[in-house]
Amino acid sequence: ALPGRVRIHEVGPRDGLQNEKAVIPVEVKAEFIHRLAAAGLTTIEATSFVHPRWVPQLADAEELFPRLADLGDVRLPALVPNARGLERALALGVREVAVFASATESFAKANLNRTVDESLAMFEPVVARATAAGVPVRGYVSMCFGDPWEGAVPPERVVRVARRLLDLGCAELSLGDTIGVATPGQVTALLAALGAAGVPAGRLAVHFHDTYGQALANTLTALRHGVTTVDASAGGLGGCPFAKSATGNLATEDLLWMLEGLGIHTGVDLRRLTATSLWLAERLGRPSPSRTVRALASQ
Ligand code: HMG
Ligand code: MG
Repeated sequence: ALPGRVRIHEVGPRDGLQNEKAVIPVEVKAEFIHRLAAAGLTTIEATSFVHPRWVPQLADAEELFPRLADLGDVRLPALVPNARGLERALALGVREVAVFASATESFAKANLNRTVDESLAMFEPVVARATAAGVPVRGYVSMCFGDPWEGAVPPERVVRVARRLLDLGCAELSLGDTIGVATPGQVTALLAALGAAGVPAGRLAVHFHDTYGQALANTLTALRHGVTTVDASAGGLGGCPFAKSATGNLATEDLLWMLEGLGIHTGVDLRRLTATSLWLAERLGRPSPSRTVRALASQ
């Protein structure tokens, strides 16, 4: 059975923009987020409080957040890798954060300069302090299906990291196909393994990148297994600078086209969102990779 409603966790301003070559002025980022909210998105991952040398594109987090103060009802989570990142976020009044773990050692090293266990140890005080401050924490697990250095990733590796993040106190987990190689059979296998390990589908989100055009098929598979939170990026922007071969996220417009066709409610206005992605594409100087954006733009 399919759910009647899906919550879209929009990652365009964070996952989408972290990988852009062009420098994007903070005013453009703030307007992008306001437009996303006006299109009906209620969870918009705004930025990251990471080391500015590691991700220069998001080094303006302190300038960005005060420009979002009027978006009272919108959830605006931000990524924090460590205590320093959490302090920066809390100082700005950020009300939701996310830590980001990896199922593989190679990506933990490339992305966080830590082993998997060292990064989980780094997150432990972050989750404890955030939770004590009333700030819920999402836990990402990257490289859930395949890794550019290590190849196929066995579900047990993901289950171990997922369990550890839940035990630390994460409210929700997002399963990342960071390089976009998964196919639906792997999604079924991973969700079954997580279910067997006592992780309920209601605590899970899925985060697909669309490198091989499988993101929608994978999403539909996850919905059939009880997942109701789906990460997507307006216009299909995105990718991770520390994962070779990573491309854009599942485009929010492509997701909406499918969900609308299935009669699944999201509260998001597809035409308004498409107009926003076209507006941003002009500022980025390149067309949106989303098939739905291109189809609607040419009508
Ligand atoms: P490190 O070099 O090991 O840092 O990097 P460190 O802990 O040794 O600290 C070195 C210096 O950095 C210190 O300064 C710290 O204060 C400073 P010093 O004392 O030398 O003057 N520092 C910071 N400054 C500002 N903000 C901070 C911060 N932390 C330390 N938060 C670190 C470790 C985690 C910082 C680094 O590896 C990092 O920033 N990584 C971020 C990587 C990233 O953002 N990746 C992209 C997001 S993940 C993703 O895209 C996947 C996802 O979409 C899901 C999927 O698709 O799978 C989520
Ligand atoms: Mg991602």
